[in-house]
Amino acid sequence: MHRQELIDTAREMVVAGKGILAADESTGTIKKRLAGIDVESTESNRQAYRNLLFTTQGVEGFISGVILYEETLFQKAHDGTPFVELLAGRGIMPGIKVDMGAKTLANSNDEMVTEGLDGLRERLADYRAAGARFAKWRAVIDIAADKPTDYCIGVNASALARYAALCQEAGVVPIVEPEVLMDGDNSIERCEEVTSRVLQAVFSELAAQQVLLEGMLLKPNMVISGKQCSTQAGVEEVAQATLRCLRRHVPAAVPGIVFLSGGQSDELATAHLNAVNRQGVQPWALTFSYGRALQAPALAAWRGQQANVEAAQRAFLKRARNNSAASRGEYSADMENAA
Ligand code: 13P
Repeated sequence: MHRQELIDTAREMVVAGKGILAADESTGTIKKRLAGIDVESTESNRQAYRNLLFTTQGVEGFISGVILYEETLFQKAHDGTPFVELLAGRGIMPGIKVDMGAKTLANSNDEMVTEGLDGLRERLADYRAAGARFAKWRAVIDIAADKPTDYCIGVNASALARYAALCQEAGVVPIVEPEVLMDGDNSIERCEEVTSRVLQAVFSELAAQQVLLEGMLLKPNMVISGKQCSTQAGVEEVAQATLRCLRRHVPAAVPGIVFLSGGQSDELATAHLNAVNRQGVQPWALTFSYGRALQAPALAAWRGQQANVEAAQRAFLKRARNNSAASRGEYSADMENAA
């Protein structure tokens, strides 16, 4: 196995002051995002949008890596340079989403299991040859009165560990993402209880399948009130509950924890990350791997117009800079008003 390379790459991904841009929206998801700004999801519009993000000057000071969707991994920038080369040339590591999405789990009450293990060894070899240095697999766990079941947690944890083991065999750092959704009406306490069960199961499977903890990253949800819950926990409470949960379940050997934003507003996702990093020194680096919370203002500014590219890049750079500050615990709300 590529032990030292995996360890070095994982550490470089969470180097102080940097986080990850998740730009790996699948064809269905990017269609929704572009529809939100009245832009049709054609290959050339998707390419133009990703070109805008990846050519933003200065972002390399705040972003260590970008998660790509397969189409983008093999796509070229406007100037003909493959995106992978363009990113690597700027010191940004290219990564790749390798799961095939969450599907209904048989014999369940509409719970989900993430697919994509068949043929993954061969795909990983191709992705690595194309320049991918890390990968992502997202499991989706829903909270409801009767959910999640141990059955759903178990199959997803097992698949995450199988994926992680295959990645490491290929010399690709796995980002292990068990996402507990934050859309329900559940309390923060219920989110903590479910996140605890999920992380316990995931690390038990990672150990059983001999995944090298030093050569992977965890991408969890924050412990937070469900969006529909009438009482929303404050920023400090979210930070404390999130850290309590992570400290109970994530071994210190894991070099970094890179949060997803999961539908939080962009500024709240930044404030939460900052508060987490103000709780004192932790065994792992704590940073971001945001999709929506890094991209939403840029998408809104762009609206598919060439004339808006600069404004969109400024909006993206600002979110990257502010989240970088939050990863150091040095963010303040005043930074939102700074030019
Ligand atoms: P969000 O930050 O929009 O939740 O996306 C992160 C991600 O990669 C989800 O898989």
